[in-house]
Amino acid sequence: MERTLILIKPDGVQRGLVGEVLRRLERKGLKLAGLKMMTLDEAVLREHYAHIADKSFYPGVESFMKSSPVVAVCAEGLEAVEAVRLITGITKAREADAGTIRGDFAMSVACNVIHASDTPENAAKEVKRFFNPDELHSYDKSEYMHVYVEDERGEAR
Ligand code: PPS
Repeated sequence: MERTLILIKPDGVQRGLVGEVLRRLERKGLKLAGLKMMTLDEAVLREHYAHIADKSFYPGVESFMKSSPVVAVCAEGLEAVEAVRLITGITKAREADAGTIRGDFAMSVACNVIHASDTPENAAKEVKRFFNPDELHSYDKSEYMHVYVEDERGEAR
């Protein structure tokens, strides 16, 4: 079982794409372990985007990410980080594959609907950054009978 962090960015919230993103995550077979709306401040954004803090475009990213609430999602499943990255599409949304969230709904490198953790190591840190332990839920999903075969179910639990 692996958990990953998705942020539905301000453009996703403003454009009414929260339900669409959740629908795609759920229909993929991922389990929602945590879900909340939050307004991000400078401190959490500086930490979350530490790897781009020295880039010329960082101030724009920060002000965009503070411009409206975001929806934080913790999704769970077998190799969930990679599975979510595949349905997210590449950063430059106007070149993202059709069928991906960014490919279907966005044109920008910054207003690209969602953020998704890029590695299991970063996912673990990011889930912790946005969710307190008591905001994450462990439960059996009856659908797993039809999402995974038995061996996979053992790992997915
Ligand atoms: S990098 O530089 O390799 O870390 O780039 P990447 O991981 O693709 O992007 C990190 C986040 O920065 C945003 N981004 C940009 N914003 C504005 N202008 C430009 N040129 C730009 N390039 C990247 C991008 O939306 C990424 O945000 P997240 O939340 O990770 O999707």
